[in-house]
Amino acid sequence: MLDVQQITLAFLEARLQVHPDVVRYILEQGEPELIERIIAGVPDHAIVVSAQHIPGMTVTRDGTRFLTDPSVEVVSGSAGTSGPINGTGDYLHYFRDRYARLGGMIRSRCSTMPIEALTRSNRYRQEECTIIGMVTEVKTTTNGHRIAELEDTSANIPVLFRKDRPAFSDAERIIHDEVIGVKGKLSSDGKLFFAELLYRPDIRIDNTPFKSETPGKAVFISDVHVGSDTFLAESWSRFSNWLADSDYSYLLIAGDLVDGIGIYPGHENELTIKNIYEQYEAFGVMMRDLPSRMKIIISPGNHDVVRGAEPQPVLPDAFIRKFPENCVLVENPAMVNLQGVRVLMYHGRSIDDMIGLIPGASYDQSGQMMQEMLQRRHLAPAYGRRTPIAAGRVDRMIIDPLPEILHTGHVHIKGITTYRGVLGINAGTWQSQTKFQKQMNVNPTPALAVVVDLQTLIPETFSFA
Ligand SMILES: [Fe+2]
Ligand SMILES: [Fe+2]
Repeated sequence: MLDVQQITLAFLEARLQVHPDVVRYILEQGEPELIERIIAGVPDHAIVVSAQHIPGMTVTRDGTRFLTDPSVEVVSGSAGTSGPINGTGDYLHYFRDRYARLGGMIRSRCSTMPIEALTRSNRYRQEECTIIGMVTEVKTTTNGHRIAELEDTSANIPVLFRKDRPAFSDAERIIHDEVIGVKGKLSSDGKLFFAELLYRPDIRIDNTPFKSETPGKAVFISDVHVGSDTFLAESWSRFSNWLADSDYSYLLIAGDLVDGIGIYPGHENELTIKNIYEQYEAFGVMMRDLPSRMKIIISPGNHDVVRGAEPQPVLPDAFIRKFPENCVLVENPAMVNLQGVRVLMYHGRSIDDMIGLIPGASYDQSGQMMQEMLQRRHLAPAYGRRTPIAAGRVDRMIIDPLPEILHTGHVHIKGITTYRGVLGINAGTWQSQTKFQKQMNVNPTPALAVVVDLQTLIPETFSFA
């Protein structure tokens, strides 16, 4: 067992004095190796080692510092917030909420007018103006122009994006049900709007992400797929051992914890654990093997046992009996706050839809897909495709507030992007190529973990393959 004198001497040998708070912390932790790790992290010019040199320390409102375990605040998506799937009545509320909030973001940047006010009289014919609406339909004309039907709460109008105009490249990526603004002119007959510029509720160009004032590192993974015959158990155990030797405070897992059962025809032939309860038990045991000082934040994905419609609720109690206490269960999507750094976790099922709708998009560009979400300030813009959405009164898929980090999964291919200050991370998977992926020519990048230093927001990728 360590005592105060031993600790003080160990620091003196490194020519450092040590604050009593730090001594207390080391005694509480009871890990002699911690001293070396703290010394290694102390900047060269420091004389006294204080709380600020310890990972996991927090600063209170009045600026006093104290030592604590890593803490997680669930900003949105805590247990029980997803609500039931309602009848058709809520579609109206759902889309109104989407239009009002995303439209409001665009409106704050340019002055706009309702479509009805524009088309009602001759006054605005061929005058430049801006309208905002939800795209109810979009197609390419036989001449290669793009035409979108735009609807606001007052009326709707077809908007033409000519292929020889600057707005065309933005217009090529229009997805139905996204909210856009267009600047342009109404035709002389008042039946068509000619677009010159397209606005999205994009991130402001001067967006500056918050960085933690205190040390702390977070590890990002997804798509563990426990129970599958392609789950990489040896890679996982290398990862698990590596975490045990680390000083990382947080592990975030963005869905597809287990492989599930009956997800596709013939699925049972590719499972090593054929019982869903046992799959979660195995996953829980894996979590138990990780350091208990870490906070493990877990959200579900489309292979998990909860309903597929998003927002997906947290895993029910019956499946998490083996999970250790340091697990924090959240919904999909969910936003968590780690030392002031906000992370938006979303499994990423909508990437399937966006790849089908955005020209040139592919599965090996999940970074680009996260950028498309951020530009639209929406996690799943296209409604009624492969991503089932439970239409509540509020659109939970809207990206608001803006996070520092967007964490996705689902595609099983690593992608990292920084877009206007927001870091997008998709760490891949812990499953090697499945038969289905082979048929589809999908080449996963398994056994990777992305670590982010919360003080710099710089990501670093580690391989356990
Ligand atoms: Fe997956
Ligand atoms: Fe998935």
